[in-house]
Amino acid sequence: MLKELLWCIIIYSNGQKVEICSLISPFLIYQVKAMMKPRVELTQDDLPKRWYNIAADLKEPLPPPLNPATKEPIGPEALAAIFPMELIKQEMSTDRYIDIPEEIREAYYLLGRPSPLQRAVHLEKRLKTPAKIYFKREDLSPPGSHKPNTAFAQAYYNMKEGVEQLTTETGAGQWGSALSLATNYFGLKCKVYMVGISYRQKPYRKFVMNVYGADVVSSPSNETEFGRKLLQEDPDHPGSLGIAISEAMEVALRDEKTKYSLGSVLNHVMLHQTVIGMETKMQFEKIDVVPDYMIGCVGGGSNFAGFAYPMIGERLNGRINTEFIATEPRVVPTMTTGKYEYDFGDTAEMTPLLKMYTLGHKFIPPPIHAGGLRYHGSAPTLSALISTGDIRPLAYEQKDCFDAGVMFARTEGIIPAPETTHAIKAAIDLALEAKKMNEEKVIAFNFSGHGLLDLSGYAKHLGKE
Ligand SMILES: Cc1ncc(COP(=O)(O)O)c(C=O)c1O
Repeated sequence: MLKELLWCIIIYSNGQKVEICSLISPFLIYQVKAMMKPRVELTQDDLPKRWYNIAADLKEPLPPPLNPATKEPIGPEALAAIFPMELIKQEMSTDRYIDIPEEIREAYYLLGRPSPLQRAVHLEKRLKTPAKIYFKREDLSPPGSHKPNTAFAQAYYNMKEGVEQLTTETGAGQWGSALSLATNYFGLKCKVYMVGISYRQKPYRKFVMNVYGADVVSSPSNETEFGRKLLQEDPDHPGSLGIAISEAMEVALRDEKTKYSLGSVLNHVMLHQTVIGMETKMQFEKIDVVPDYMIGCVGGGSNFAGFAYPMIGERLNGRINTEFIATEPRVVPTMTTGKYEYDFGDTAEMTPLLKMYTLGHKFIPPPIHAGGLRYHGSAPTLSALISTGDIRPLAYEQKDCFDAGVMFARTEGIIPAPETTHAIKAAIDLALEAKKMNEEKVIAFNFSGHGLLDLSGYAKHLGKE
């Protein structure tokens, strides 16, 4: 096979003909061309065949979940009432890779996977930065975020084990929309407890879930013992993800054919999301680029984990030097000021104890627009990596994040979800720092979702409402 091309330039020096010839690899030409295009695409054949499990590469074994009564590590049976066995196995697995079943890969095509890695050339121009900014397009799935990557996996394993209904919580509504679509796809019923403040702020998200066939109630609700208790204390309770989790679990525990599904935090959720990072790794390899920074916003940690873990694995094995940055709201400063200790994942103390950065399970976050970032804890794997200094957490003000979101919309044309603006803010700050230092840094962030159903937040920010 012809691997290299011969090129020649003929010049005349002092009337003498001089030929300069060289060999150039077509692969090099292909790479240079690919680097100049604003999108790095993969074909359907490139869709990853396995998820990556960070538990295999952590410096220390992950602290196990504990039984709150005995403080002893729990076994798989303790989770069997709420999760199907296959997901429990994944939760506890330390295998580096786990195969993605063909039925889930087929569903991933429906979601538009593999998703493009795009260069924000217009934003770079606006910032006048020498930095190159890339973003991974998770906003292109039908519900508009990364959440379906695990929703379809969870619905699939539940369907396989004969479950008939899933209950869940949702903050901004992205997770609820994703699970509603996934349960409908695999023939299950779905009941969503939507955080009260988001239910009131984002009515169209509720309608999306209804269209996909789910039943949605505002949390705290009158449907559970815990919800009724909270409503008695405060009929206008804004709710929180921790409370909605408690309600969804209470309902799942009542009925054998109903199980519970969580949109973030747990190891199996992080695992399913790594389809994002497996693709991103391939995309950077395709253009022969190693990013200097990889950024993601964090609610429980799943989009950050999905995007970054496969590359963090590379760094833990000494193959790259990329820096990883996890961002959060200043008013929900779980990773930046929370304590690294065992805590409940929900407010009513129904979950096992998880070792994580936490603000305490009774913490009620203020009603910011980034509803998906209003959670008191962060994923145990993410927390472990923060504690060892492998991930740097940063916190931002809501106003600065909306400013970043508006600048992104006005340059790249896409309106980001309020959650995603927290990653964009970090990317812009780093690009401006690179400008000051005149350095050609490569900055990549996960574009976790679009904000087309979050416009009231933008309207308020722009003084239009
Ligand atoms: C668009 C978007 N990004 C980020 C998040 C935060 O969740 P996680 O940290 O699990 O990715 C959410 C949660 O709802 C979301 O909807």
